[in-house]
Amino acid sequence: MNALVKYQVDPVVRTNLNFKLSEIPRFWFGGDPFKTRMFDALSLTFPDGERYFIESVRLFRDKIKDPELQKRVADFIRQEAQHGIAHDKMNQVMKDQGMPVDQFIKVLNKIFKFELTRRSPQYNIAMTAAAEHLTALMADTFYSQKATLEDAHPYVRALLAWHAIEEMEHRDVAFDVMKQVGDVPELTRQFALAFTTFMMLGFTTYRANIMLKYDGFSRLDRFKMTVKGLPWFIGRNGMLTRMKGPYLDWFNKDFHPSQHPVIAQYDVWVKTLAETNDPIQAGEAFWQAAR
Ligand SMILES: [Fe+2]
Ligand SMILES: [Fe+2]
Repeated sequence: MNALVKYQVDPVVRTNLNFKLSEIPRFWFGGDPFKTRMFDALSLTFPDGERYFIESVRLFRDKIKDPELQKRVADFIRQEAQHGIAHDKMNQVMKDQGMPVDQFIKVLNKIFKFELTRRSPQYNIAMTAAAEHLTALMADTFYSQKATLEDAHPYVRALLAWHAIEEMEHRDVAFDVMKQVGDVPELTRQFALAFTTFMMLGFTTYRANIMLKYDGFSRLDRFKMTVKGLPWFIGRNGMLTRMKGPYLDWFNKDFHPSQHPVIAQYDVWVKTLAETNDPIQAGEAFWQAAR
């Protein structure tokens, strides 16, 4: 990592993208219930999670005097709002499958409401910047190797590809708000990433387990699936474990998200969307172009 190098791409707001999610099969990740429900569990937290990020950034909007940061904040808010809309459609698919999505979201919103009303703005912007660090790293680890999402349905893979692209575009916005006007103690900043990671991983595994129960799998089935399936995510060579180096960079005092390169095939997605105006083709080309 080099503190002097800056890798940055500007956020572009893209609206009305159609991923044809109503057409995906129940277990869209290669027929694998565990992988499918883990991704579903992560996906279902996005709409309300992203609305929480927006609220956290808004707490500081009046303090931002730099017009460039103001513009990036406005684009960040619009991008996250679009992600919320798209993942709400994914939530509808899960609801139609009989998943208790509303129950999950009710609990989630209780937590976010508590955070926003009972904790300081400093705490909330630190949590948001930390979560954005995670989403940018996930964007990279999902798509840097072709094999990772090989078995995923192309439509969901395209939805996540678009989301990954925009998470990379705005990965440093909440961070810059935190640094420039947040007045966040270093310890709070560091704690925020550890806590967000713990919550995200814990809740995702927990919700995936509940969904598998609704799918009709017994307690023993689910236990076996978890033992077999979890290493793919967090085992020694797990897909999330690969994020370890850049993940830990957060704890450097002079860390900035733009010290990490943007995913190699970023331009492929942008170019394909411009040529075809089809986010599914753009997602496919983006995934194909990985190593
Ligand atoms: Fe997002
Ligand atoms: Fe984001």
